[in-house]
Amino acid sequence: MRSFHLPWFRINTKTDSTKITQSLFVLFGIFFLQTVLAADPVVIKFSHVLAASTPKGMAAEKFKELAESYTKGSVRVEVYPNGQLYKDRDEMVALQLGAVQMLAPSLSKFGPLGIRDFEIFDMPYMFPNKTTLYRVMDGKIGANLIAKLESKGIKGLAYWDNGFKQMSANKPLRNAEDFKGLKMRIQSSKALDAQMRVLGASPQVMPFSEVYAALKNGEVNGTENTLSNFQSQKIYEVQKHMTLSDHGYLGYAVIVNKTFWEGLKPDIRAQLEKAMAEATRYERRIAQEENENALEKLRATGKTEIYILPNESRRIWQQALLPVHDQFAEVVGRGTIQAVYKIAAEVEKEEKLNKDNNSSAKAKK
Ligand code: SIN
Repeated sequence: MRSFHLPWFRINTKTDSTKITQSLFVLFGIFFLQTVLAADPVVIKFSHVLAASTPKGMAAEKFKELAESYTKGSVRVEVYPNGQLYKDRDEMVALQLGAVQMLAPSLSKFGPLGIRDFEIFDMPYMFPNKTTLYRVMDGKIGANLIAKLESKGIKGLAYWDNGFKQMSANKPLRNAEDFKGLKMRIQSSKALDAQMRVLGASPQVMPFSEVYAALKNGEVNGTENTLSNFQSQKIYEVQKHMTLSDHGYLGYAVIVNKTFWEGLKPDIRAQLEKAMAEATRYERRIAQEENENALEKLRATGKTEIYILPNESRRIWQQALLPVHDQFAEVVGRGTIQAVYKIAAEVEKEEKLNKDNNSSAKAKK
């Protein structure tokens, strides 16, 4: 009688075939488990154009950390900052082709994709505060916008924040007339183009990565951006004046390739959604702090004179820029503009009520 000895079981050729079949099942099971455990992780290439030290850069790293931990290594997130993989113009195409899986472009960069509705976020002086903004992003308007991406093979996962924009040039920008004749760099948004034209400036669309050099060599004379973007790009080295005007907003949509996303196993997708929700809370918290820190750092350089636009001038700027809302009503939706005005008015009313309640509570003490 012949027999085979293996470390964990013995097969006797005379034993019945059931035993052999069972043993083969065990062997196959072990092999299968080993294969699954050794399977390559799903790779998410997350490309963006900012420095790693910006709110977007830090939140991308936070997402990586959470996603890899929640999926227990089944997903690997590779973050590529500073446009090292793709610049503004190319990153959307790269996402649609599946060369990268995740991006967080500025909301002003969806126009060239054929979705102009996002330009609601570019309307000057449309959002008086962050509360209004978050209600718009996290409510029906934000959801409708995100849904429009699907026809382009893109899935939107979250809105990330940066902040309100300021103006800069090599001359003081105190009055709306001061913009006349200046070549101002803008992102690829027709609404931003209209905003600069209303001010009498000549708008120049340019990728973010080229702004510093273009300001330095005089290709453009000025620009608009958030404080953290001004600071991280060292724009203070090439701009002598900045006006804190808060005239517009800059935020992001975190987007993924739709086919890739829908092809993920449901449990993996759920963990990634959880990681994204947490990274979004983190991002919105630090965006405010980073812009405040950036202002201090900009002041400390002593290279750019910072002018705080007085309320009276702000009203004049607002009046000058208001025609852009009407001009773009057909593009972004008249109903959407009205809905944002309504949300802003509700927020203002609530804030006033809170203020009154606080002062009467203080008076009672
Ligand atoms: C960004 O914040 O991602 C870039 C914004 C810009 O192009 O000015």
